[in-house]
Amino acid sequence: MGFKEQIDISRLPEHIAIIMDGNGRWAKNQGKFRSFGHESGVVSLKDVVEGCTDVGVKYLTVYAFSTENWNRPIEEVNLLMELLISTINAEIVTLNKNNVRLNAIGDIASLPQKCIDDLKNAMDETAKNTSCTLTLALSYSSKWEIVQAAKKLAAQVKEGKMEIDDINESSFSSQLTTHSMPDPELLIRTGGEHRISNYLLWQIAYGELYFTETMWPDFMKEDLFEAIVDYQKRERRFGKISEQLN
Ligand code: IPE
Ligand code: IPE
Ligand code: MG
Repeated sequence: MGFKEQIDISRLPEHIAIIMDGNGRWAKNQGKFRSFGHESGVVSLKDVVEGCTDVGVKYLTVYAFSTENWNRPIEEVNLLMELLISTINAEIVTLNKNNVRLNAIGDIASLPQKCIDDLKNAMDETAKNTSCTLTLALSYSSKWEIVQAAKKLAAQVKEGKMEIDDINESSFSSQLTTHSMPDPELLIRTGGEHRISNYLLWQIAYGELYFTETMWPDFMKEDLFEAIVDYQKRERRFGKISEQLN
């Protein structure tokens, strides 16, 4: 039996977040350029998005470029930006066919203008799709996002639009870039590293973490299904004891 058949559709994670890591090492292991790894990573992303629509996962949020990734060699940064532009433009038709809405979080204004324009166009073109929301985290840093949220709340208090006591988990969450989505129940990191790398720190407070040695270009929808099956075997106690759960 494949992993897909083992999934309990009634207990799916609504939101899955992925740190797509290992592209460079995957390519280097085969004596190829890192760029080949990134290009192959796009194939994995397409397959995984399809996997989400196959089973009914409503939100998929992928770490595509971190704020820290700006510190890579300029050639690699440029290549990633070009790959981003060509991919979003090429994928609009498929996204629409599969009823997937494209969304982006992060410091989008820091991206090259062509990226910003094409991203906006792709988001507009797919805005009415309802089966799954694919969010690209671009120039994203969780600490940046949390500081932004704090600043927005402080400004509202200063302008007299809210009281300090109105600052709570709910009003704070509403200022995060993920405000329109539920928190991810499952976070997957490929590529063998056991760290979060400044991704969705607030949102994964109670998320289930799944680490795999599989490099991102080798990670396909069947691997996603395996992660979902693993997630469904876990007991999410949220601080309670087993006997209290139903
Ligand atoms: C993840 O793969 C993709 C991005 C960060 C853009 P890496 O490029 O980090 O690949 P490794 O981790 O060096 O193998
Ligand atoms: C995290 O991967 C960012 C993305 C996958 C886009 P990195 O490869 O940049 O993270 P570190 O350097 O291993 O923490
Ligand atoms: Mg990496």
